[in-house]
Amino acid sequence: MSKNEKEKTLKVFPSIAAGNLMHIEHEVRKIELSGADGLHFDAMDGHFVPLLTIGIPLLEQIRKITSMHIDVHIMVSNPDQVFLDYVHAGADTLCFHIEATVHAHKICAKIKEKGKRAGVALNPATHWHDIEYLLADVDLVTVMAVNPGFSHQHHLPLVHKKIKELAKFRSANGLGFEIQVDGGVNPENVALLKSLGVDSVVAGGAIFKHKDYSHAVALLK
Ligand code: DX5
Ligand code: ZN
Repeated sequence: MSKNEKEKTLKVFPSIAAGNLMHIEHEVRKIELSGADGLHFDAMDGHFVPLLTIGIPLLEQIRKITSMHIDVHIMVSNPDQVFLDYVHAGADTLCFHIEATVHAHKICAKIKEKGKRAGVALNPATHWHDIEYLLADVDLVTVMAVNPGFSHQHHLPLVHKKIKELAKFRSANGLGFEIQVDGGVNPENVALLKSLGVDSVVAGGAIFKHKDYSHAVALLK
C-alpha cells in the first residue's frame, strides 16, 4: 500500500436501519452533525434475507430532507428488476448483491447512465473472483463481514483475506473502486481493516449504541 493510501481518512457510513426507526428524521439530523460521510440505507425484502426493513417510500422521504450522500444497499432477490426504483428514489450509490444478480454488468452501466455510483456487495462466502470482470466498471465493492440481514452481529475475520486480495488486484491493475466493509465494524477492528486497504466502513451497532454519534464516528475514524 502506498504512503498516500495509508494517510487517507476512513469514510464512515452509519446504517440508518440500525437507528431508532420511530424517530428517523431526528436520527438523520444527528448523523448529519456527526462527521459521518453519508448514510447507509439497508433495504431488505424478507426473501434474500429474513427481515423486511426499510424501502423505497422511506428512501424518498429521507432524500427530501437531506443532502447527505445516501449509499443504498439492496439485500433483495430481484435486483435486476428493482435497482432503478432505488436510484429514482434517491440513492447516490446503489449497491446490489452479486449472488442475486443475473446481469451485473448491465446494472452497473444503467446506474452510471443515471449519474450515480455503482456498487456490488459480496456475501462472506462469495469469492471476489466472481466479480473480477466487473471491477473495471464498479465504483464500490462492499465486502460483507457478516451474513446480511441483521445489525449487531460478530465481524467475520475470514473476509480479511478477500479484502487484501481485492486491494492487491486494484493496485496491480490501476483500478479506482472503493473497498467498503459492512458488518461488525467497531473501534477495535477498524485500524486493521484500514491497513488491509479498506476505504469506507458501514456501522450500525458501533454508532447507534452511543448517545453521541460524533464521538462514535470519531472513534471509528
Ligand atoms: C447487515 C447490514 C449492515 C448492518 C450493519 O445486514 O447490511 O449494514 O446493519 O450493522 P452492524 O455494524 O451492527 O453490523
Ligand atoms: Zn448494509
